[in-house]
Amino acid sequence: MTFNVRQADPSEAHPLGMFAEACFREAFGYLFPEEALDLLCSKAFTTQVMDSLIHNGTWIAEGPEGWRGYAAMSLDPCPAQSLEPPHVELSRLYVGSSWMGQGVSDALMAAFMDEARRRGAKGVWLEAFEGNPRALRFYKRWGFHDLGASVKIREGLHLPHRILGSDLSVAIQ
Ligand SMILES: CC(C)(COP(=O)(O)OP(=O)(O)OC[C@H]1O[C@@H](n2cnc3c(N)ncnc32)[C@H](O)[C@@H]1OP(=O)(O)O)[C@@H](O)C(=O)NCCC(=O)NCCS
Repeated sequence: MTFNVRQADPSEAHPLGMFAEACFREAFGYLFPEEALDLLCSKAFTTQVMDSLIHNGTWIAEGPEGWRGYAAMSLDPCPAQSLEPPHVELSRLYVGSSWMGQGVSDALMAAFMDEARRRGAKGVWLEAFEGNPRALRFYKRWGFHDLGASVKIREGLHLPHRILGSDLSVAIQ
């Protein structure tokens, strides 16, 4: 079934928050006790947070039945020194589980990469949870390499991450 990838509109902050929360719960909900998950979600997917995401650049993959995934860009500097500036961060990439492995994530990544190049970035970076082999494999296919370790603290949980980066001049796709 076909789908298209488009930029999120500022008027979509609320539905984006609902969709983003559902994606997060589906992918990472298992990590948190229920109460902690509810608390985290009550802060992470507000309309204000989504407004800011959309302002910086957010893409939605949309099929006839609804949204399949989304990606977002942030301008935060990469914590690893080795990535040459200017660079941009892939701060979110989520695809609903029923749409994994079907090219939706590739289309979202392609839109993100196009925009990174258009903005003159020399590199792109992200942080991926160490316990997420599927994502690590996906990013490797897209030319990302390991730049070091980081830890994200969420509701008292210490989550080890890998900082991954890609030089846009050598990115594969
Ligand atoms: C990460 C994500 C965007 C990747 O999209 P996807 O459509 O699942 O990716 P693909 O299926 O194209 O690629 C995944 C790769 O991992 C492989 N893979 C699948 N399950 C795996 C596992 N358990 N362990 C290791 N590799 C795995 C696939 O075979 C594929 O490798 P290949 O391209 O060499 O065949 C998607 O899985 C997702 O949204 N996950 C939940 C949210 C998330 O983790 N976001 C990333 C936050 S950093």
